[in-house]
Amino acid sequence: MIIDSNAENIKRAAEEILAGEIVAFPTETVYGLGADGLNPTAVAKIFEAKQRPSFNPLILHIASRDQLKELVEIENDKIYNLINAFWPGPLTLVLPKKEIVPDIVTAGNPTVAVRMPKHPIAKALIEACGRPIAAPSANQFGFLSPTTAEHVEKQLGDKVSIILDGGRSDVGVESTIVEITKDKVYLLRHGGISFEQLKEVCDTVEIKEVNPDKPNAPGQLLHHYAPNIPLRFLSEVNAEDIKDKKLGGLFFKEKTTNIEFEHVEFLSKAGDMTEAAANLFSHLHNLENKKLDLILVEAVEERGLGIAIMDRLVKATNRYK
Ligand code: TXA
Ligand code: MG
Repeated sequence: MIIDSNAENIKRAAEEILAGEIVAFPTETVYGLGADGLNPTAVAKIFEAKQRPSFNPLILHIASRDQLKELVEIENDKIYNLINAFWPGPLTLVLPKKEIVPDIVTAGNPTVAVRMPKHPIAKALIEACGRPIAAPSANQFGFLSPTTAEHVEKQLGDKVSIILDGGRSDVGVESTIVEITKDKVYLLRHGGISFEQLKEVCDTVEIKEVNPDKPNAPGQLLHHYAPNIPLRFLSEVNAEDIKDKKLGGLFFKEKTTNIEFEHVEFLSKAGDMTEAAANLFSHLHNLENKKLDLILVEAVEERGLGIAIMDRLVKATNRYK
């Protein structure tokens, strides 16, 4: 439902976000579909609502520089030139993430994208939450980005209970995305801040074209996401494959075999696909840390976020075929 962005409704929206729900809100670029950026299960709901076939890394929206320092490592002073010139505004910075940032936000990347929006309602909402808000554009996967509350209502009206109305987004295209490494600045996505504007501030900016349909291509995710010990589907191994091996298991909701494991993880004991998606990456990390010889994973049903989960798992097992 579209609601007026008065103080009371902004507070209500913040309460929803802190309760783990998703809320659509205006920014100066496009409307965002926001969730508590530090709550993996809440973030998983964004993917569910957008019906994204795979996990894409999301932008964390912040309202202060102090928040930035909690989320990222700052290894290159050029960042301050960019921040001073363009924040708040349509510039997203990709920087090495700190531990506190959940894996589902970055789709497994060691970096996280952060932006300080200029829109007063976005700012008020982030401040009312006191936490970063993870948000992609508030549209269904593959469709037009929304620049009014009505656009959001049309595509996601049945998925989100609160759409804060902030009029038209004045930038109307997504933020420019820049990655800052120790010694380089890369342009990853053209957007609200032009290349020329960037160059005025940072004399050397290299363009790194990213396929907009496949940001952080699956290959890259495979590289990050295949654990560094072999991963195979439970249904594809025989007794010989597992003989004398220290085994780890990743199950959907319960142990479905009498094979003995050194360590097991469950994606969602309640059988909830959203929770399962939220847990996938961190559970794989846990298993990787257990000094095992082989991880056996149970295939999950390919419905809803299960498709995205299987996409990752298939790619991860491919590496060990
Ligand atoms: O203007 C915007 O940026 C809007 C508003 C809502 O802030 N948001 C937006 O989000 O456009 P989204 O999800 O549609 O696009 C975010 C893109 C990803 O598709 C990916 O290309 C890039 O940001 N991205 C996010 N995290 C990244 C990372 N760690 N490394 C590289 N690229 C990243
Ligand atoms: Mg988008």
